[in-house]
Amino acid sequence: MCGIVGYIGKAPVVSTVLDSLSRLEYRGYDSAGIAVFNGRGIQVRKRAGKLKELASSLKRQPLEGRLGVGHTRWATHGEPSELNAHPHRDCTGELALVHNGIIENYAELKSELLGRGHRFRSQTDTEVIVHLIEEHAKQLPLPEAFRRALKELRGSYAVCLIAASDPSRLYGARCGSPLIVGLGRGETLLASDVPAVLSRTRRVLYLNDQEIAEISVEGARVTTLEGKPVVRKPVVVDWDVASAQKDGHAHFMLKEIHEQPAAIEQTLTGRLGHAQITFDRRTSAFLKELSRTERLIILGCGTAYHAGLVGEYMLEEVARLPVDVDLASEFRYRGAMLDRDTTVVAITQSGETADTLAGVKLAKEHGAKVLAICNVMGSSIARQADAVLYTHAGPEIAVASTKAYTSQLTALCLLTLALGKLRGAIPAAQWRRHLAGLQAVPGLVRNALRAEPAIKQAARRYASARNFYYLGRRYNYPSALEGALKLKEICPLIHAEGYAAGEMKHGPISLIRPGWPVVFLATGSPVYEKIVSNIEEVRARKGACIVIASEGDRAIRRHADAVISVPKTEEFFSPIVNAVPLQLFAYHVARANKCDIDQPPNLAKSVTVE
Ligand code: M6R
Repeated sequence: MCGIVGYIGKAPVVSTVLDSLSRLEYRGYDSAGIAVFNGRGIQVRKRAGKLKELASSLKRQPLEGRLGVGHTRWATHGEPSELNAHPHRDCTGELALVHNGIIENYAELKSELLGRGHRFRSQTDTEVIVHLIEEHAKQLPLPEAFRRALKELRGSYAVCLIAASDPSRLYGARCGSPLIVGLGRGETLLASDVPAVLSRTRRVLYLNDQEIAEISVEGARVTTLEGKPVVRKPVVVDWDVASAQKDGHAHFMLKEIHEQPAAIEQTLTGRLGHAQITFDRRTSAFLKELSRTERLIILGCGTAYHAGLVGEYMLEEVARLPVDVDLASEFRYRGAMLDRDTTVVAITQSGETADTLAGVKLAKEHGAKVLAICNVMGSSIARQADAVLYTHAGPEIAVASTKAYTSQLTALCLLTLALGKLRGAIPAAQWRRHLAGLQAVPGLVRNALRAEPAIKQAARRYASARNFYYLGRRYNYPSALEGALKLKEICPLIHAEGYAAGEMKHGPISLIRPGWPVVFLATGSPVYEKIVSNIEEVRARKGACIVIASEGDRAIRRHADAVISVPKTEEFFSPIVNAVPLQLFAYHVARANKCDIDQPPNLAKSVTVE
């Protein structure tokens, strides 16, 4: 949500900032802008719409400089428009600032500043920050004015400031929204996320909440909001530019779907052996303690929540551990019972989702222990957690989560099997079978991808429908929720809902009309017969049944309008394999409907505000 890029160095600032902003497009935005110091003063250019609008305006009337800050805005306060786009300036035009987050006390700050004669141009909450800094800078040097202003803000922010009076540096700060520093050779960047800096450097410094970074060509000086120096070593990220590019695929989503075998292998590497599962020392020690726990709460949002639901089936059935799964946005406000004996597992691709982060903080305040299943190293949630099971899926750029989801499920398989073993809940034969089963998963996913032509054909056949149901049972009930989420998020013309198939008769079936497409998950499970009965109930009402079934299941053809075959696997692993046709089906329906697949309207990759 919103992308921030600040740059100081020898390269032309406009092309550098635009290039870095383009690598943050996946975060979702509706307008873009840039402020450049040109040697005399600060010039600002903003445009509503996509970055290409801003880029073509800058081509017609170029701006030049070596210091600047750019932004892609996802509207929260004030409509998406040129006026509300960032950067925002103070009354004098000496300062320019971009912001990600929400300033909750902006109304009271604004009325105070209006009373002091400040002139506001936009409807945003952000503009108060720059006027507040201006106000303090009347009495204080800029770094102190910046610090003082930040202390008055309530809410969440990542900000980046440039000043015409101080063109040898830029200032960044964060509280609840991500901000990193990219340390290059003779150049330094500030950005919301790692892909923005990868083309210039892989040395990254992650800022913590309540920290300020003063950036110059030499590097960064980090202090707390109280002014205390912070010593932190940069991290060398192992992602490269290529992994954050499309590599000839039409969309990032398609590329990431096809990367799943490799991503899953990465999740397993160094952990899954022929006879055992091993983790790093810290995680192993944490899991030993966790195996004695009597209660686990899994938290997540969206797709990560669906992974958590699958985890509930796995952990309860195989590790015999009681699990509650909560949407992080509900957990944080529902007065959950937490204590030192509770363990929370936070699942998150980005490690920056505001609700999940708040849930983690709440759990820790109550003495609970936290394990994060996370993809982004050094992210806020990874740093807050007591232990982290990194998924190592590589950067996920498309808004729709695909490889992050299947690698989260893979991490949950590892967790379940390790805990099951520690708790003595898995008989030796099942242990051996599941270990071998898990070794086979990347290959099964590779084979599932081979069905793409058939899936594409089915997708085209139903692409003009405007309502879909997705139904599944047990481990594949969450798969139904995830399949429906995938379709509605990337194809906003379509309404799709996922249900537990057994719930159909309790309401949703009333809507079935002739031709209404229903996607069934009917791979091998103890409730296979029951799913077949549910298929028949839909057929009796002339709904169109698209059935995901195991290879070799010929009998299912009698019941289906279209069959999508997936490699046979144990039910325990089936949500991973079944995710592939669900993702490809959504992708090809969206493509047939000419949707903006990687950046669907109104959505952001990383939801860093509430
Ligand atoms: O980064 P996170 O895993 O914490 O993100 C959680 C959700 O915002 C995310 O999974 C969202 O639902 C996806 N866009 C769905 O594809």
